[in-house]
Parts: sequence; C-alpha cells; structure tokens
Amino acid sequence: MPAVVLSHVHKRYRRGTSDVAALEDVSFSIAEGERVALVGPSGCGKSTTLNLISGVDRCDRGAIHVRGLDITNSTEASLNSLRRGLVGIVFQQFHLMPHLTVEENIILPLALAGKRDPERVRELIERVGLRERMHHFPSELSGGEQQRAAVARALVHRPPVVLADEPTGNLDSHAGDAVMELLFGSRREASAAVLLVTHDARLAARADRIIHMNDGRIEA
Ligand SMILES: Nc1ncnc2c1ncn2[C@@H]1O[C@H](COP(=O)(O)OP(=O)(O)OP(=O)(O)O)[C@@H](O)[C@H]1O
Ligand SMILES: [Mg+2]
Repeated sequence: MPAVVLSHVHKRYRRGTSDVAALEDVSFSIAEGERVALVGPSGCGKSTTLNLISGVDRCDRGAIHVRGLDITNSTEASLNSLRRGLVGIVFQQFHLMPHLTVEENIILPLALAGKRDPERVRELIERVGLRERMHHFPSELSGGEQQRAAVARALVHRPPVVLADEPTGNLDSHAGDAVMELLFGSRREASAAVLLVTHDARLAARADRIIHMNDGRIEA
C-alpha cells in the first residue's frame, strides 16, 4: 500500500468574482519510505498540494488516500487523527504556536497523542541547534530558528508521512544540512515517506524522485 495517493485531484479557489484553478487533475503516489521532491514555479500549486494531503484543506474533485485512509471523505474527527498521528507537516509560514515556547511547540504533537518522549525531544532540539533557544517564544526567534523549530515539531512523533514546504528556505548551508539530514538521513533512522517542496537543487537531488509541477498540473 502506498503512503500517499492522489487521484485526479482538482482544487479551485474562489475570491469574489475571480476563480483560480490551483490544481487541475493532479495524480501521483508516494511509496512507503520514498522521498519525493515537489518542484515548480511560484504559484503552481505546491503548498495547495501539501495542504490537501495533510487535511488542512479539502479538494473539490478526485480522491486522496494517506496510508489507506480516505482523506476526501473523512470526518473532521478522522482528519484530526490523521494530522496527529500519520502526518508531520512543516508549513511554509511555520505556524508555530505563539504562546508556547520552542520546547513546548516541539512537544505538542506528542502531547496531543497522549505520549511523552523527552529523549526524542532533546535529541531533535540538539540536532536543529536550538538548545539555547528552547525556552524562548517564537516571536523572539529569527526566521531560520522558527523554521528549525517547525521541522523538529513535524518529526518529533515519528510520523510515517512527512510533508515539508521549503524547510530550508531560511537557512544557511550549515543549518540546511542539519535539516536535510533529518529529512533524508539514513533510511534506518528515517523510514518516513517524505514529500518535500524545495527550490534548492541540492536538496531535490537527494530525493528518490522529483515531481515537476506547472500551472496546477504535474508535468510528465
Ligand atoms: N486561500 C487562497 N485563496 C485564493 N487563491 C489561493 C489561495 N491559496 C492559494 N491560492 C492560489 O492558488 C495558486 C497555487 O498556490 P500555492 O500556494 O499552492 O502555490 P505554490 O506553488 O506553493 O507557490 P510558492 O512557491 O510561491 O509558495 C496560486 O495562484 C495562489 O494565488
Ligand atoms: Mg507555497
């Protein structure tokens, strides 16, 4: 069973009288443990694709399955369990909780699942280089530090599917390498299926496969 399957997915955004076709007939699948880079020009539908797979947004037509779970016809309750257990997501705008510290943000996915794993939390904080910042609030962090906290939060509960929207966009090459290692590190350590949006050719080159998108469509 593939980790993620999109079948003929369509998504339009309506704003007043204007109508934007964000995704048109998008189909692809990602195998368990496969790392896929999603690339394409600004506005082509990359973030929309991630938002649909993570259940943050809903498609108009077509079907999406995550590890066999039908996202398209899911109730809010099962979408919640998807977001909590199956999927880890690094949003393009990070979306850290402003009233929680870095450490509390990173613990959140575990807490929501009723779990504790202080060892894992400490390890991730170390690996993204935020030990000195763990008791700070997001508003006190640089963009790159917020991004690293968002990456740690997405991975802390070891979700089988990881979605990451430009996770190295604000990072220098040293911090970028640490994030890359977390996402694409040894298969034994990181067995998750990864769908990564990136403009970084170096990062895309480390994926098992690259999906090219243009104007809401997958390019052959
Ligand atoms: N909430 C929304 N309301 C209206 N239009 C939207 C909305 N979200 C996205 N769009 C439009 O849908 C299209 C796809 O947007 P999306 O954010 O998926 O692009 P992207 O590939 O992630 O771009 P970027 O590389 O700039 O992040 C764009 O034309 C965008 O303007
Ligand atoms: Mg985007």
